[in-house]
Amino acid sequence: MSFTVAIDGPAASGKGTISRAVADHFGLGHLDTGLLYRAVGARMLAGEVPEQAAQRLRPEDLGDPDALRGPEVAQAASRVAAIPEVRAALVDFQRAFARRAGGAVLDGRDIGTVICPEAEAKLFVTASAEVRARRRHRELLERGLEASYEVVLADVRERDARDAGRSTAPMVAAPDAVLIDTSALSIEEAVAAAVAAVEARR
Ligand code: C5P
Repeated sequence: MSFTVAIDGPAASGKGTISRAVADHFGLGHLDTGLLYRAVGARMLAGEVPEQAAQRLRPEDLGDPDALRGPEVAQAASRVAAIPEVRAALVDFQRAFARRAGGAVLDGRDIGTVICPEAEAKLFVTASAEVRARRRHRELLERGLEASYEVVLADVRERDARDAGRSTAPMVAAPDAVLIDTSALSIEEAVAAAVAAVEARR
């Protein structure tokens, strides 16, 4: 039997951590759909045409997520993500994953609205731009990457504006999504809130 959990929200809202924890807790598969757009963005930076890169994308291309984590790839991802043909090329893979036997958690920007409007449980995880920039800044420093807080904050705001403002599949909470604002929550509190919201839908 399939059971789909859709978790959307902006960059560094905590949705990745929450998604992995929810998947572990309920024994579901997990797909970070941002990686698909990052992989296409990385290929655009390497000179490929984004639409073609999206059509040719294979699961193996997501094999080294760390190589796709940097801010340059994130910006490229958000640019290719605004191209309707790129999004269309990635739909089937995401929907197939969502319906896999045993159930799945997908996290992204448009999972509850476009990819899986029928998802059994939907969450929209958010936090203030400043809190998200602080988290992302700390993460980058921990990985030994140079970054200033101001640049990270500007990057977060720029991506938010592009992701929420695009005409195809903009980032928006589905009307039936449970909202979780993690600005003032610990990881444990945020995960507990998400697990409770999913439990209520099982
Ligand atoms: O989630 P992450 O920050 O890795 O996503 C990178 C970019 O990919 C986002 O800024 C967004 O533009 C795009 N994206 C998207 N739809 C998704 C997942 C990611 O447009 N479902």
